[in-house]
Amino acid sequence: YRPDLGRAPQGDFMRPSTRTRASSRSTNGVAPQVEDTRICVVMVGLPARGKSLIAQKVVRYLGWLSITAKCFNVGSYRRTNTPQPSASFFDFSNKEGERLRRAAAEAAVADMVKWFQSPNNLIAILDATNSTKSRRRWIKDRCDAEGIETLFVESKCDDEDLIMANIMEVKTTSPDYTGQDPEEAARDFRERIRMYERVYETLDEDESDLTYCKIIDVGSQVIINRIQDYLQSRVVYYLMNLHIKPRSIWISRHGESEYNVSGQIGGDANLSPRGAQYATMLPEMVAKSAANAPLTVWISTLKRTAQTAQHLPYEKLSWKALDELDSGVCDGLTYADIEREYPADFKARDEDKYNYRYLGGESYRDVVIRLEPIIMELERSENILIVTHQAVLRCIYAYFMGTQQEQSPWMEVPLHTLIKLTPRAYGTQEERWKANVPAVSTWRGKGSAAVHADTPSASAVGTPVLKGKVKK
Ligand code: ATP
Ligand code: F6P
Repeated sequence: YRPDLGRAPQGDFMRPSTRTRASSRSTNGVAPQVEDTRICVVMVGLPARGKSLIAQKVVRYLGWLSITAKCFNVGSYRRTNTPQPSASFFDFSNKEGERLRRAAAEAAVADMVKWFQSPNNLIAILDATNSTKSRRRWIKDRCDAEGIETLFVESKCDDEDLIMANIMEVKTTSPDYTGQDPEEAARDFRERIRMYERVYETLDEDESDLTYCKIIDVGSQVIINRIQDYLQSRVVYYLMNLHIKPRSIWISRHGESEYNVSGQIGGDANLSPRGAQYATMLPEMVAKSAANAPLTVWISTLKRTAQTAQHLPYEKLSWKALDELDSGVCDGLTYADIEREYPADFKARDEDKYNYRYLGGESYRDVVIRLEPIIMELERSENILIVTHQAVLRCIYAYFMGTQQEQSPWMEVPLHTLIKLTPRAYGTQEERWKANVPAVSTWRGKGSAAVHADTPSASAVGTPVLKGKVKK
């Protein structure tokens, strides 16, 4: 990963395209850093194969990396002309159904092409079944004519139980079936799949000129063909790491440190007595919320996270990438010191906290880039508990909850609080427990140089402070 990231808000993850294309796309008047490639990721697959879920995850992942991506869901376009179709609408011999479905696909592609006219828009996802060779060829030709690359992503899965579970989990609550009996909705959806099965053509040798990634049985086999450049390979690598086994990710900041108490930032201080007390309570809080499920603990290389995790009876792994945001020349100072000694920097950070890089240190944007391998490993893993630092935790949380960059560096993540994130279809469920051990607040609002002060303590050990919030 590039050590010398620029302060420019775009382009950290871009690489020059291997091919040249006549283009007037802006390079912001600086170095030619913006990738010239625009990619349409074309989803392929029968209904209820997880295409929309994959599409949404890719958009969230790319957005987190500052790569502007957008999903064009053909189903939403179709709903404008046919809000609640029955299975017969999808019968390929139904001429009117065919015409309306074609119109929806054309409208989605037209909007996508328009969207690509903005120079920062790099990756679109065309979310539809795109189940026939002729439909895929039409999309490829449309994109070729606009200088847009295509990456076809097929999700192929014939596990009946899984498909039935998918239907019950997400399809019976789809707007296509609002107000209908779930059993009846499931039956109709099964019938809809049958309609598609009659004409469905998997990606095969006839389409060997296409760039594609075929994900079989939720990643147990992945076939890739003609991946051409950096961005395409990033997307494919991400897709290869996804799984749908139920699991959770727990995140906690380290216990209160001596630096937290004195109001200093950075450093490698020991836990305060209250921080050490939180460390002794953490095993019980985790055990209760994990219902004794197996998990692995990830910590940073700084003492305060190792000390916080010391009583946890699980395998532990220490990652340099989980170290706190490097505050460079400001390391060891209080916010008030920084305001006095580096007033212009203090102001600049407040104006654009996400992009502001400490002199000789890092920005939130830099932290996100170095956390990318952590996210990839998290996607591959099952239950993980991460004990880390304020800024790093904000970045990890932002990935799972899709928090905007302007907002994420300002999020309040109190000390002595355990957060459990559980990925669900189309969202992440969040639960929080606060330990009954007071700690200072290290949160600082825009424009203030507030000193770290005590927060009111929670009423009981492991009190859930927020339950069951699902971010869609
Ligand atoms: P439709 O064509 O009707 O829009 P879809 O293919 O977009 O269907 P989703 O709505 O994304 O299907 O289905 C979500 C469900 O699919 C979730 O329950 C999720 O766990 C499951 N799922 C995710 N990935 C896969 C996969 N690779 N194969 C099968 N199921 C998957
Ligand atoms: O104060 C605790 C701390 O982890 C510091 O070490 C770090 O510099 C800071 O929080 C990051 O938070 P912010 O980005 O809000 O200054």
